[in-house]
Amino acid sequence: MKILIIGSDGMLGRELANQLPLLARREKQNFTVITAPHTQIEITNASNTSEIITRHMPDVIINGAAFTDVDACETNTDKAYSVNADGAKNVAQAGKNINAKVIHISTDYVFDGMKNTPYIETDQTHPLSVYGKSKLAGESAVQEINGNYAIVRISRLYGVHRSNFVTKILALGAEKRSVSVVTDQFGSPTYAADIVPAIWYIFSLDLRGIYHIANDGFCSWYEWAKKIFELTNNQVSLHPIKAKDFERAAAVPQNSSLDCTKFVQMSGYKMRPWQEALEEYLKNYVIH
Ligand SMILES: NC(=O)c1ccc[n+]([C@@H]2O[C@H](COP(=O)([O-])OP(=O)(O)OC[C@H]3O[C@@H](n4cnc5c(N)ncnc54)[C@H](OP(=O)(O)O)[C@@H]3O)[C@@H](O)[C@H]2O)c1
Repeated sequence: MKILIIGSDGMLGRELANQLPLLARREKQNFTVITAPHTQIEITNASNTSEIITRHMPDVIINGAAFTDVDACETNTDKAYSVNADGAKNVAQAGKNINAKVIHISTDYVFDGMKNTPYIETDQTHPLSVYGKSKLAGESAVQEINGNYAIVRISRLYGVHRSNFVTKILALGAEKRSVSVVTDQFGSPTYAADIVPAIWYIFSLDLRGIYHIANDGFCSWYEWAKKIFELTNNQVSLHPIKAKDFERAAAVPQNSSLDCTKFVQMSGYKMRPWQEALEEYLKNYVIH
């Protein structure tokens, strides 16, 4: 089996590119991984996308490429839709042409956050931001074009390969020793490394449809920051603030935590609590 990773230079893409081959060896699975970083594929260009995909002839395509700067999407609407919606469509179409399964990575920001409990896959979508709307348009395109798809919605990603909330809050703490963080927006922090086995289950069990995949549990940005400073023994003073007092371009859902029960039932793989994953990440990559 051949797996092609598009967006393989991104935070999740690089984790998948590095870890899936190791998982194949460890689990004695017979699949090979090919990568297509942005320098090699332009998903907004249908013919380039089709040419690269046809050249590799993968059985499974994982599309982790996206325009992910949520605030920048507000002022770059054309680019957001071009990458997140048209790009997703081009990948789905090229995949369909060669009968490949498409695993499309999406986001918790397709929800408006008005629900008081974690979101399940069938909950009504209603994105608040250009990013969320463009990603939802991408989901719809994938669903319309390629019957053999899995849409994987993930949440609050952090990992080794790019800057993220964890690295940013640590940098802010080191610089200012006093940081204000939002208490009334909730989500499920998710370690990129923990998504790798989940994606493996998706293609090895040939799971289809929409799946929510995140580390177990949820917290506010404030609680997440507090845990980061606790685990790194940082004496930074944290100030709770409300979302309305933290100016940013994009509207962010008040609650975008994900309920992963469907995926756990289908795969038997329950991701560990977010606090445990965070502790391992900080031990391995931040605390030396
Ligand atoms: N990060 C989060 O907190 C989060 C949360 C929920 C869902 N997600 C979703 O998870 C997926 C992976 O996110 P991530 O954080 O790993 O993203 P990332 O680090 O921003 O990586 C995205 C990758 O896509 C590439 N790319 C962008 N435009 C492209 C294009 N037109 N053609 C080909 N490649 C292109 C980027 O290349 P360049 O760097 O050269 O632009 C980059 O390598 C995305 O679908 C995202 O929407 C992320």
